[in-house]
Amino acid sequence: DFRIGSAVAGGGHHTSADYPEPFPSDPEYRSVLAREFSSLTPENQMKWEFIHPEEGVYDFGPADDIVAFAEANGQVVRGHTLFWHSQNPDWLENGDHTPEELRAILKDHIYTVVGHYEGRIQQWEVANEIFDDSGKLRTEDNIWLRELGPGIIADIFRWAHDADPNAQLFFNDYNVEGLNAKSDAYYALIQDLLAQGVPVHGFGMQTHLGLQYGFDGRMQQNLQRFDDLGLETAVTEIDVRGPVGADGQMSPELRQKQADWYRMALEACLAVEDCNSFTVWGVLDEHSWVPNTFPGYGDALTMEGDYERKPAYDALQETL
Ligand code: XIL
Repeated sequence: DFRIGSAVAGGGHHTSADYPEPFPSDPEYRSVLAREFSSLTPENQMKWEFIHPEEGVYDFGPADDIVAFAEANGQVVRGHTLFWHSQNPDWLENGDHTPEELRAILKDHIYTVVGHYEGRIQQWEVANEIFDDSGKLRTEDNIWLRELGPGIIADIFRWAHDADPNAQLFFNDYNVEGLNAKSDAYYALIQDLLAQGVPVHGFGMQTHLGLQYGFDGRMQQNLQRFDDLGLETAVTEIDVRGPVGADGQMSPELRQKQADWYRMALEACLAVEDCNSFTVWGVLDEHSWVPNTFPGYGDALTMEGDYERKPAYDALQETL
């Protein structure tokens, strides 16, 4: 049942000019996606600004194409994402809706989007990045938490479950791989929601790592405590960035360290019973969001150039 996944490039603010399409049609790209991966996550195409670009207007085209491609290739799909502080359309962020209207908009969105893909999404990242690194709910930058209060979290899981009873419903965040204030905050929240009977099924660790920081060796222990709550866990968006030169590459030594970190993350997941999914945040370095988001850093994925395999690729393959 173990799945190795990739994000499907397209639609991002940072997408390479070579891949301007919402789902790259390049046959080589598609054949590598189909051959190397058993799970796909739309990198942007299911986010609010893409799938709900105008009030009451849904655009399912690119996401439909990705889901159909996955099905044709025997792959599962992770839905990403329904509730986030980022990549929301202007009409939502800068509208003047009342809290009652916002609640109705959110409910309609979840029933419409989750319902549209009913039975075709393995795991939905229902709530994305709702805590900051200090473990405080994002009650300022997340419009829903700000306007509707934290009680909305239980509602969105209930609505999503109602719209697709077979999808596994996840929380998802970065900087939660180790034991820290943020992962503790999720642990406490999820325990509380489960005690209330809220349908929460999983916890996703994005795993956007930087070689300039440390790797918390307690990732397995952390995954295990969520597993012990009866949850699925997953590595949902892994990339490992490092400082790069003018050619966009790190030194060979850093690439080796990167390979070790990919291996450690995969080992942690494989060691935990219901960690069944490990997704890299893109196929090729040229698709990656990293260089544009973290200037001076890059080389974060497992393949480069003409789909050449980097040490990180070999490390993952040896570990499987
Ligand atoms: C990133 C995409 O990779 C970019 O293309 C886009 O411009 C911005 O978002 N956490 C998440 C992902 O949950 O959705 C983000 O993806 C990376 C951080």
